[in-house]
Amino acid sequence: MGNKTFTIIKPDAVRNGHSGKIIDHIIQGGFKINAMKMVQLTQDTAGGFYDIHRERPFFKDLVAFMTSGPCIPMILEKANAVEDFRKLIGATNPQEAAPGTIRNLYAKSIDANAIHGSDSDENAVREGSYFFSELEIF
Ligand code: CMP
Repeated sequence: MGNKTFTIIKPDAVRNGHSGKIIDHIIQGGFKINAMKMVQLTQDTAGGFYDIHRERPFFKDLVAFMTSGPCIPMILEKANAVEDFRKLIGATNPQEAAPGTIRNLYAKSIDANAIHGSDSDENAVREGSYFFSELEIF
């Protein structure tokens, strides 16, 4: 089990002023922030990040949403990071997210679901290096 995961605070949460509370929730959940920045994704960078979903029916809406405003990618560290972070954020569909999880508290819909979390150690590494160079990771 790896000790790193990758997350993005999505444009809805940034726009709604929830990023500070979400970052605090993550730190209080025992995660250390190894890298963080605010970025505006383009069609190409959002499409490249979600390349595995390119053939899914929701891909176009996903890219439109992820380019709708700035977002905050982060690399996080904790024992059992991927699994523990997915518990902290809750189910992809906020209607199914457990009480007290980040998506339960801050997400409105399956598209505007406040936050992304890597689903495997392998994807955590791939996604982290998509946004950050070695020099930006602490
Ligand atoms: P995320 O964890 O960032 O990964 C892909 C995103 O696509 C997902 O969160 C959702 O916000 C979005 N999405 C929209 N529709 C669906 C769907 N039917 N299944 C999975 N993800 C979806």
